[in-house]
Amino acid sequence: MTSILPHGGTLVNRIAEGQEREQLLKDAAGLKSIAINTWTISDLDLIGVGAFSPLTGFLNEEDYHSVVKNMRLANGTVWSIPITLSLGEEEAAALRIGERVALVGEEDGVVYGLLDVESIYKVDQQVEAQNVFKTTDPEHPGVAKLLARSTTYVGGSITVLSRPVPEKFGEFYFDPVKTREIFAEKGWRTVVGFQTRNPVHRAHEYIQKSAMEIVDGLFLNPLVGETKSDDVPANVRMKSYLALLKNYYPENRTFLGVFPAAMRYAGPREAIFHAMVRKNYGCTHFIVGRDHAGVGDYYGTYEAQEIFSNFTDEELDITPLFFEHSFFCKKCGNMASSKTCPHGKDDHVALSGTKVRAMLRDGICPPPEFSRPEVAQILIEGMKEVSPS
Ligand code: ADX
Repeated sequence: MTSILPHGGTLVNRIAEGQEREQLLKDAAGLKSIAINTWTISDLDLIGVGAFSPLTGFLNEEDYHSVVKNMRLANGTVWSIPITLSLGEEEAAALRIGERVALVGEEDGVVYGLLDVESIYKVDQQVEAQNVFKTTDPEHPGVAKLLARSTTYVGGSITVLSRPVPEKFGEFYFDPVKTREIFAEKGWRTVVGFQTRNPVHRAHEYIQKSAMEIVDGLFLNPLVGETKSDDVPANVRMKSYLALLKNYYPENRTFLGVFPAAMRYAGPREAIFHAMVRKNYGCTHFIVGRDHAGVGDYYGTYEAQEIFSNFTDEELDITPLFFEHSFFCKKCGNMASSKTCPHGKDDHVALSGTKVRAMLRDGICPPPEFSRPEVAQILIEGMKEVSPS
């Protein structure tokens, strides 16, 4: 086993199986139900499998306020993103503390789980937005999602009765208990986790490989839950990761598995959250580069690194690896950052995300110093599927 403990010390398991599950499903038929969307189904499942350990459910009122204000659960454990369940006023008015309710998919009617109601509370979303996203701007994609929800939340422990079934790439879904087993089988004592919601370009590859020089293995862990509509769709990205790994990475030192969570775009706070979750998957190290989980100009380039200094090494218990903004330098003839390259901006191959997307849409490969040709080709094909001309 990797020596690293899950966050909070115990890997949570709230998945009901076999006869117990059958019985709970029967009981659920007689319970009140709360309709849940894809985002909440994903949160529910990730709590159930222990990816969000030590959470055993949706945040109750006390933990919610503590997380929003102090980035900690009420007992002091580091936790930076509120994982909450919102529901309509009328639904809430019918609920009682101590009651058990069924959580039912709003689209498919599947009973995904049960919730033991511990608290029902009203929230101030402006305060939540300002604290978590550092802005109340409704143009921010995370804030927009937050403001679209009801201001009544319900907290309590959950039990998962049905797991969401991936449409594609099901073979790359691994629960934390499984990734921990796999890393142990591979004999990896140190594992670096890499979060991404993008195709892996040369800069990503460079920081991953720099990290790989000092650890036993790389866990490439792309986020494949809900992302904003102009991000590259997960299915296209998965094809690009496979092409990249096949052509440029040693098979015995890399492992690809998805992170089926929704993207919050909360920058610094999400970096802490991402690190804690990867610890649960068994990582000992976690990469945080430039503007991690950022969007637009809401966060400073290195704010997602600076936030780690609010916590002690002991309470984080996973080693963050910080990387400067990386690029290809024509004079150096290799990938570099301001830490290793003495040359000016004119010598660096720098392309904005907008520029790259425009090139790919026009069927033009970005230069190989920016993106591997195998990756660019897949993205060009993917763009055609998403927005056929
Ligand atoms: S994220 O929203 O998932 O963080 P992205 O997939 O672009 O976005 O980034 C994945 C990781 O690579 C993050 O840790 C990010 O900070 C880092 N990163 C992305 N681009 C660069 C770059 N040019 N230089 C250094 N780090 C980078």
